[in-house]
Amino acid sequence: MERVLSGMRPTGLLHLGNYLGALRNWVELQEEGYRCFYFIADWHALTTEYADPSQVAHYCREVAIDWLAAGLDPEKSVLFLQSQVLEHAELHIFLSMITPVSWLERNPTYKEIRQELKDRDLATYGFLGYPVLQASDILIYKAHYVPVGVDQLPHLELTREIARRFNYLYGPLFPEPKPKLTQTPKVPGVDGRKMSKSYDNAIYLGDSPEVVWEKLRPMVTDTQRKRRTDPGDPEKCPVFDLHRAFTPSEVREEVVENCKKAGFGCIDCKRILYGHLMDVMGPIYEKRRELAARPSLVDEVILDGSRRARETARETMVEARTAVRLWCPLAEGGAE
Ligand code: TRP
Ligand code: SF4
Repeated sequence: MERVLSGMRPTGLLHLGNYLGALRNWVELQEEGYRCFYFIADWHALTTEYADPSQVAHYCREVAIDWLAAGLDPEKSVLFLQSQVLEHAELHIFLSMITPVSWLERNPTYKEIRQELKDRDLATYGFLGYPVLQASDILIYKAHYVPVGVDQLPHLELTREIARRFNYLYGPLFPEPKPKLTQTPKVPGVDGRKMSKSYDNAIYLGDSPEVVWEKLRPMVTDTQRKRRTDPGDPEKCPVFDLHRAFTPSEVREEVVENCKKAGFGCIDCKRILYGHLMDVMGPIYEKRRELAARPSLVDEVILDGSRRARETARETMVEARTAVRLWCPLAEGGAE
């Protein structure tokens, strides 16, 4: 069975952009019969949140709840927490020995995030090594596919290079993982810019139906359509981008027509969107409420997933230690 692995950094609550861009695809892969490993990358969160990690644990839990509510199924996928599987850190040490610093310094994602988060001191060893830790996340499960967005492609290329170098130095062990790029729809936030927690424009998976409508009602539309009687242009309207993601095509055609001939107002249009958005978000919200009533269930799921992840990670580490040939005085395969 081919293995899929991916992770998310717990640095905020999940919003529609995360759902449409990643989570929905993860659920599909799980249904397509891959062996899926999905994890919460809390060590990766620490690379940027180290000065104030007080929220990381909270977001880990919320992300886990969002995952389960959105349909990731612990019976089908291994859902786990990175910091519960110490083997990632051990492999990270091996990989850090063989990774040239120049590979890390030229990484475009590294440069971009440092630019974005200028207010933080990211001139740290841990942040530079972010992709090495990511490589160990992926390689320790010998993943064949990694569903990610285009922004992660440089990291994945680095993982492949590190795998190649390990295999060259110590003998073949790691398959080179391939990215699985799925078409990611354009998901604007309520101000028309890309949906992002840092723009304060996001609709969250945990938002109640009332809150969703409160956010949608004043959402930016085609700015040329000022009055109810003005015709609009859906191509210039961020609300219509959301229609593309949620509204069935027959209904969407009517929306286009009504917009172009001023057949209805923007509020009517948003109400239609709201209905279809709720077809998707309503069940997620309900499931979230059920989960909130059973707090220990989420902990158990993640703990159990982490235990299962560890089993696979341990097997790989036995092979990796053997390949590197450190002295192992007690047992074949190394320390317990
Ligand atoms: N860097 C990824 C992100 O920011 C998160 C991540 C960490 C990851 N380890 C991973 C993704 C391994 C895929 C595979 O989205
Ligand atoms: Fe946008 Fe709908 Fe208003 Fe047209 S009618 S401008 S698509 S919100």
